[in-house]
Amino acid sequence: MTQPSRAKATDISRVGPKSRDCFARAQFVFPDGTARVTIERDPTPRYIERGMGSYLFDVDGRRFLDLNCNFTTLIHGHAFAPVVEAVTRQIQSGSCFANPTEGEIELAELLCSRIPHVDRIRFVNTGTEAVLFAVKAARAFTGRSKIAKLEGAYHGAYDWVEVSQAATPQNWGDSTAPNSTSFYRGMPASVRDEVIVLRFNDAIGARRLLSQHGHELAAVVMDPMPSRGGLTRPMPEFLSAVQETARGNGILVIADEVLNLRQGFQGASARYGLVPDLVAMGKIIGGGLPIGAIGGRNDVMKVFDASAGRPLLPQGGTFSANPLSMTAGLAAMRHLDHSAFAHLESLGSVIRDGLARAIAKRDAPLCVTGAASLFRIHPMAQIPNDYREAYPTPAGAALMKELTRFFAQNGIILPIGAAASLSTPMELADAEFIVDVFAGFLDSYDSLMDSLESRG
Ligand SMILES: Cc1ncc(COP(=O)(O)O)c(C=O)c1O
Repeated sequence: MTQPSRAKATDISRVGPKSRDCFARAQFVFPDGTARVTIERDPTPRYIERGMGSYLFDVDGRRFLDLNCNFTTLIHGHAFAPVVEAVTRQIQSGSCFANPTEGEIELAELLCSRIPHVDRIRFVNTGTEAVLFAVKAARAFTGRSKIAKLEGAYHGAYDWVEVSQAATPQNWGDSTAPNSTSFYRGMPASVRDEVIVLRFNDAIGARRLLSQHGHELAAVVMDPMPSRGGLTRPMPEFLSAVQETARGNGILVIADEVLNLRQGFQGASARYGLVPDLVAMGKIIGGGLPIGAIGGRNDVMKVFDASAGRPLLPQGGTFSANPLSMTAGLAAMRHLDHSAFAHLESLGSVIRDGLARAIAKRDAPLCVTGAASLFRIHPMAQIPNDYREAYPTPAGAALMKELTRFFAQNGIILPIGAAASLSTPMELADAEFIVDVFAGFLDSYDSLMDSLESRG
């Protein structure tokens, strides 16, 4: 495959005139010109015309290797032929019904047979909803209302899991007993009071806080490798501390695998030895269409059972288990076999090892985290263990912005402050190109730091 050459004459890190026109129009209809807060803008977002395989094409006709993959969703890249065919076939027969379809059974069968501890499943439309219903299911099962969660971990837009998602050095509090911080102005104090915050990889803190609040906690919400929290590997002693203390106190373990299910054929909990009672899924299981799913142990999932009248937890949704998402998800997941995961794993290793070698060679104060098809570059020499350690200084944040610009200039979309992700159409040449571009960035590192420092 031919790669765009490095350091082009035109600076394509700046968006083109058509993107600028779109953004000008968008100012009249969206609060800040964008339809979601997570859109990257510098200061103008890049508008996309189409995607194909691992590439994005913007409205100005520029091509980019896509390491965002719609926030890690598109594990087969864009316009994956089996998904396109399946969805085209389905939409000709109708897009949604009030009745169930066979497609939902097929996708459920695949997930229940693949993901350990998922005996039964329910579909929703987003990862947010999946986490929301998992938390509610834990409450309905235990009769308790509080939850514990990890500082800095992102779980979507449900108030309770938003607590301490954006904690800062100014408000995160004691290193051994984190504050429960508001995510938005006006967040009810009662919500904060219902959430106990743990630090990722702090086994002693997890044992202490979960035991102390054990009688009132319905669940501990765990992402085995929180992307925005640092994309750091979980220490085995931390996972066992959480798991044992939760079990000992009747607290359910909810694994949020909305993002990290892509870490392997059986997902991330299996990879790291976490045994969840409930699993929240999303992203890859919809093949690029909106989806979420709550899976778990049979006895816990009984809270959704309406066969004998009103269930402990009613769960519906106009578009839940809609046939388009079911059929797209099934096509994508069927093609995610062991060899697809092995391919992604090997590309990920080539990239992470290559980036680490480039850093070591230049003794640059950066590091790389991640696993499987995910990686994240940090502006610090020491690999962070948790959200606090991964929290960048203002100079570090500015450096990461420059890195993203440099990647864009070389035809690669690299997310800032979150996981970069790979897709099955990527090849070894793409992995090598990513490493090569990064090495080019490091070559200009000293002069860049000088100019950042002189800018203050
Ligand atoms: C770990 C995790 N949980 C939940 C969500 C929310 O999913 P959605 O954006 O589909 O609502 C995300 C989204 O990025 C996520 O990464």
